[in-house]
Amino acid sequence: MDLNGILNKFKEEIEKIKEKELREAKKFFEEVKVRYLGRKEGIIPNLFKKIKEVPPEKRKEFGQKINLLKQEVEKTLKEYQNLLKEIEKEEKLKKEYTDITVKFKEFEAGSLHPITKTLNRIVEIFTNMGFAVADGPEIELDFYNFEALNIPKGHPAREMQDTFYITKEILPRTHTSPIQVRTMLSQKPPIQIIAPGKVYRRDSDPTHTPMFHQVEGLLIDEKVTFTDLMGILDLFLKEFFGENTKVRFRPSYFPFTEPSAEVDIGCVICNGKGCRVCKGTGWLEVLGCGMVHENVLKNANIDVNKYQGFAFGMGVERLAMLKYGIDDIRLLFENDIRFLKQFKPILA
Ligand code: DAH
Repeated sequence: MDLNGILNKFKEEIEKIKEKELREAKKFFEEVKVRYLGRKEGIIPNLFKKIKEVPPEKRKEFGQKINLLKQEVEKTLKEYQNLLKEIEKEEKLKKEYTDITVKFKEFEAGSLHPITKTLNRIVEIFTNMGFAVADGPEIELDFYNFEALNIPKGHPAREMQDTFYITKEILPRTHTSPIQVRTMLSQKPPIQIIAPGKVYRRDSDPTHTPMFHQVEGLLIDEKVTFTDLMGILDLFLKEFFGENTKVRFRPSYFPFTEPSAEVDIGCVICNGKGCRVCKGTGWLEVLGCGMVHENVLKNANIDVNKYQGFAFGMGVERLAMLKYGIDDIRLLFENDIRFLKQFKPILA
């Protein structure tokens, strides 16, 4: 039995590992290991089985030699295993290395949706004037959406707001005005809030979508007058559309305010000359307002001998369309990236 021959052959084979790619080398290493040390058919275990064929006086020596061979093979295998582990670690590190000096592709900043921008701007202007932001549920009770706002069942004003009823008493709010009632019932005057939010109506055409946004305003205190209301809204519109914006108040009707008015601005498209957008009038209606109706104050347990207040409501989509010159409301909801990209992240 040429034990030296076996050892040399083994070393030769293991040397070959160096020439192989890591994955191949690992596979080959395992093969060699099994070939020499495998318990069933490995060359070395087989040698041990052969001891009994050796004449008794030589058995001891032979046994020692195989042991030495086994130790040598194990030692070499161990060394190679460590070597392979090292190489593997290095390759992994190389792969995971991040060159932080590489110049990266410059990504374009995203932009805020025009509705978000408009809402942010409205909220900013009013909070600068001391208004707090209030909130309310989108699914409302008839009481808050209509009843408490002086719109009893059967009132013709209910027809003006095409409601999606869920049940007779539960509905997605048709306006943000119910937040007025909720705020008055939960806070004591003085109250000075705006309430931005989504509202829902059965309406869909180039200027109406079934969901849109409104901002409601409410101010309740002692000695509040219609002039205060006019001053605040005039200031708001000039801040929002520009200081040269013309503002006019027109008598109107809302069940929850008395007296009521609608507010127009000089047409931003034609500058008051008359065009298609303002239908030749030179004016654009932008919001509704008025002094809070006595019935509404009473429904909200406010002492009408001590307090008065004003309220206003505006459509955010409409303001956004006028401000940015958008002529179809549906553009605001299609989320076409080419449209949205035009609104830079900085507030205008
Ligand atoms: N809630 C009204 C609507 O949806 C808007 C409105 C008008 C709100 C006048 C008010 C107001 O607070 O005083 O059409």
